[in-house]
Amino acid sequence: MTLPNKVKIVEVGPRDGLQNEKETIPAAVKIELVDRLTDAGFSNIEAASFVSPKWVPQMATSTEVMEKIRRKPGVVYSVLTPNMKGFDAAVAAKADEVVIFGAASEAFSQKNINCSIAESIERFRDVAQSAKQHGIRLRGSISCSFGCPYQGEVSPDSVADVVRRLRELGCDEIDIADTIGVATPNKVKTVFERVKQEFPAERLSGHFHDTYGQALANIYAGMESGIAIYHSSIAGLGGCPYAKGATGNVSTEDVLYMMNGLGIDTGIDLDAVVDAGQFISQHLGRKAASRAGNAIAAKRQG
Ligand code: HMG
Ligand code: MG
Repeated sequence: MTLPNKVKIVEVGPRDGLQNEKETIPAAVKIELVDRLTDAGFSNIEAASFVSPKWVPQMATSTEVMEKIRRKPGVVYSVLTPNMKGFDAAVAAKADEVVIFGAASEAFSQKNINCSIAESIERFRDVAQSAKQHGIRLRGSISCSFGCPYQGEVSPDSVADVVRRLRELGCDEIDIADTIGVATPNKVKTVFERVKQEFPAERLSGHFHDTYGQALANIYAGMESGIAIYHSSIAGLGGCPYAKGATGNVSTEDVLYMMNGLGIDTGIDLDAVVDAGQFISQHLGRKAASRAGNAIAAKRQG
């Protein structure tokens, strides 16, 4: 299959990336990061998460972040909302999109959101209906679509089953997530071919963590399956607090470098993204987990 001419990159660093940091990051730093990402040209930034601060303390500043970011018209600022408490906070914070997040594995669902897959869909029902009433975009995310840290194998049919349930809730977009980065390209194609039977390909996205160094190859495989939305994280930040050993999402700089080389339009300025990656890495006091980002920064210094 031919590759898409245009790809939407959803920047998830401010949420998926930073949620895993142990040290509390000041809201001002998070706000500057989101503003830099806005200026770099992203059309969708996952900026915050309205979850229990007992479960994910780093996201406790989400209201302040959403209040103080500089919003560019047309840019979608998304937030995670596991239940109505999260949804109400998202409405108050004027989120453009809410994300309900489930899993294709029962074991991970219990660890991450403290309920079964079936119970999670029931909780999401209220959030989904309220999102529709408020005219807020609704996205569904499916963790462990390619493997689970607790139960191991996950079948494409169980991913398809959750896709179908999220479709019935009215999701505008559905993320097929490799939470622990175990997927390889043929597996990616198998899962996407299966879930495309349940939901339109143009509204499916790939959310790849890079734990085993497969994420770019997996994105390429996803593009060959007709998928044109991918999530990535500035400086390769992140991991999931409920998936031990999982590293960050594929780095945005690496994805953009590949897209630029392939002549695929993303509308995003790689140089500005490299600057944002260096900014947050300096704050965190470590080198960015981005090969392209570090190479471009080193080249600039001559
Ligand atoms: P629970 O303990 O079963 O919920 O947690 P509860 O309803 O019994 O509430 C317990 C306490 O949390 C109460 O406070 C609630 O008010 C409070 P208390 O009375 O004890 O003081 N609470 C909240 N506070 C703020 N915002 C809320 C909220 N809800 C309840 N929305 C719950 C269930 C879902 C809340 C919990 O398990 C949770 O917050 N989980 C979030 C886990 C998480 O954020 N994980 C990381 C994001 S998912 C991810 O990274 C994967 C993804 O990137 C895709 C991939 O890579 O796979 C998306
Ligand atoms: Mg993730």
